[in-house]
Amino acid sequence: MSKQNATPWAEVGKSHPHESAVLHVSGSANYTDDIPETQGTLHAALGLSAQAHALVRNMDLDAVRQAQGVIAVFTARDFPGSNQCGPIIKDDPILADGVVEYVGQPLFAVVARSHELARRAARLAKVEYEPLPAVLHPRAAHEQQSYVLPPMSLARGNAQQALTDAPHRISGEWQVGGQEQFYLEGQIAYAIPKEAQGMYVACSTQHPSEMQHVVAHALAIPSHSVQVECRRMGGGFGGKESQSALWAGVAALCAFKLQRPVKLRADRDDDMLVTGKRHEFHYDYEVGYNAEGQILGVKVQMLSRAGFSADLSGPVATRAVCHLDNAYFLSDVDIRAMCCKTNTQSNTAFRGFGGPQGAILIEHIIDDIARHLGKDALDVRLLNFYGRNDGEGRNITHYGQKVVDNVIHELVAELEQSSDYRARRAAIAKYNATSPVLKKGLALTPHKFGIAFNVTHLNQAGALVHVYLDGSVLVNHGGTEMGQGLNTKVAQVVAHELGVPLSAVKVTATDTTKVANTSATAASTGTDLNGKAAQAAAHQIRERLATFAAATLGGIASEVSFFDGHISSGGDTVLFAELVQKAYLARVQLWSDGFYATPDLHWDGKSMTGNPFSYYAYGAAVSEVVIDTLTGEWKLLRADVLYDAGNSLNPAIDKGQVEGAFIQGMGWLTTEELVWNANGKLTTHAPSTYKIPAISDCPEDFRVSLFKNINVADSIHRSKAVGEPPLLLPFSVFFAIRDAIASVADHQRHPLLSAPATSEAILRAVNAIRD
Ligand code: MTE
Ligand code: HPA
Ligand code: MOS
Repeated sequence: MSKQNATPWAEVGKSHPHESAVLHVSGSANYTDDIPETQGTLHAALGLSAQAHALVRNMDLDAVRQAQGVIAVFTARDFPGSNQCGPIIKDDPILADGVVEYVGQPLFAVVARSHELARRAARLAKVEYEPLPAVLHPRAAHEQQSYVLPPMSLARGNAQQALTDAPHRISGEWQVGGQEQFYLEGQIAYAIPKEAQGMYVACSTQHPSEMQHVVAHALAIPSHSVQVECRRMGGGFGGKESQSALWAGVAALCAFKLQRPVKLRADRDDDMLVTGKRHEFHYDYEVGYNAEGQILGVKVQMLSRAGFSADLSGPVATRAVCHLDNAYFLSDVDIRAMCCKTNTQSNTAFRGFGGPQGAILIEHIIDDIARHLGKDALDVRLLNFYGRNDGEGRNITHYGQKVVDNVIHELVAELEQSSDYRARRAAIAKYNATSPVLKKGLALTPHKFGIAFNVTHLNQAGALVHVYLDGSVLVNHGGTEMGQGLNTKVAQVVAHELGVPLSAVKVTATDTTKVANTSATAASTGTDLNGKAAQAAAHQIRERLATFAAATLGGIASEVSFFDGHISSGGDTVLFAELVQKAYLARVQLWSDGFYATPDLHWDGKSMTGNPFSYYAYGAAVSEVVIDTLTGEWKLLRADVLYDAGNSLNPAIDKGQVEGAFIQGMGWLTTEELVWNANGKLTTHAPSTYKIPAISDCPEDFRVSLFKNINVADSIHRSKAVGEPPLLLPFSVFFAIRDAIASVADHQRHPLLSAPATSEAILRAVNAIRD
């Protein structure tokens, strides 16, 4: 058909709107709390520890039980099965049992007729504590060698020798803060008992299968008796990868005991007091380099604030270690990483998953090297990049994976041009020379981010595709939708495979009774994994339809074409729905499953070497800021961003992800500050004191583009993941602020600035550099 030949028909690579966009903006998208409540639904609230570390001598819950509207109170002793929600190591009680390990740790659950009454009652507990020594800082934990996991180390070459031989050396301490996920929809689970000891849980979670597993163990029932469903989340950002388990576990316990539906919805303060955040990192480093700025040896110790339990701190630290290189070839390295046990919330996944914490250290080091040598930091970056893919060498990472897809040279060159970097550098120097109070700064930072779960077996996914007789298509897969557009992209893949318009395809809620044993939607792999699984399922149906079309219309099966709701074979074209109906009458199977496991991944945790990643996603950004040296206030004036989404499945959604990640990462590095008081209580547990970026913090001039590229790895339609990597792009904001501060001392001294660069921190750094 001419229509087909003019522009090849495609549903991938197009900027379709998010499949729920209209529902989102009209308020009709259903979240867990929007599910109509079943008759008799009760509401639970948690009673929280007031101490950072203590034995619980006595819990007097009489007043709680007698409070208005209260139906029951449950503690750790009430679990028929195991009171445990640790995702890897079983060191994480759902409800504290005899000992509390942080302020905010849940001690009991109270069930009442309303959410409000449950919350009021929870405050009436009289708990007697016997205080134990609390460790509140990672460095203090390190001094006591108190870790949640054994220390990790990775060495290549001889870093000590390289340092000794290097013409220049710098060493120092540095730190970056943690970050609250601040999903707009808080943690929530709604549990409804089913017949024969069954349990249904609607839960806002990135990991329905893990919730099923935790609930089954907590209730001592088989997994087949637990159904967990998630239509969508109002954001997860890693905070609902493992830590939705506490909420699912408690709601299920209460519902099981009472045999009534129970909803547990966290209000913002409880959510922030109970759940873990991004890991803050403390570094000690020593680096050697030559007169050009080439890095010769790096020795690093990273201490992360793990909190009271292991949770995902192990793989987070591993990803930090594997991202210390960022985009740079480091010949001789010696890295140690410790997950420090502190009496604070158990820190967990957050967009980037340790990658940002690893990569930002080398950028900080390069920033110092450049200033020390009086060079533009961009030139030092260019000098240290991994080699091009032309066999020039310098392309094996410190953990042994060969970089075969390096596009950082071309990508940065394009951005340097399009952002007018060199001319703006000169203009800013001129501006600063005549502006005593306001100072501008500029920085270009690159990133390289490894795509795949760094726990190899998690890189698998399944999907089901159903074709109905009217030609409409239903897809179910193991991934979860949290706003990132996963369902839109998977629907595009299936529509493309079957040659039907996107409007013919619908994606259902994620449901553990459909695809079994799913991985979390995390590590930015949602589309890579579930897209491939759904494609495999759709492909089988396509093959069966092609065989049937060739048999009935003439032609040969391998040449049947599927496009725009039509099927052509042997010169004849029919409607997709028409052929489907005929195929049904001929008893052709019109649904299929699909499975995908990412090939060629392996990892040796002991030596910390292997091939942990399927490919790398690259990007770079240029940020220009202005700071007020009298108040520490600042503004991002302009940001130019170039991101490598490979052969993008949906450029509009990918740009949205880049913009969102950029602003979220900027918040982490600037305004978002977690503060615990001397007793270990998190004092920044609400938006009144914890400042995420607002729309007014977005730069007025925000130029986001996708780099023209095709994945060399056989990913879904050669696209690349986009969920997490762009969180590293606002490193450029932080280093632009540092550049502006340095201008106060004519770039002769290094500003003392840790992240987050709050206005207070900026002002302190300005004052310090003046002294
Ligand atoms: N985008 C939105 N809107 N909301 C989210 O919660 N989470 C991020 C990213 N983008 C998130 C998001 C994180 S932490 C990950 S790992 C990926 O989305 C997960 O989805 P994907 O693998 O489908 O990209
Ligand atoms: N990202 C997110 N979650 C994970 C990972 C990862 O790399 N590895 C194990 N769980
Ligand atoms: Mo994302 S931190 O891997 O959920």
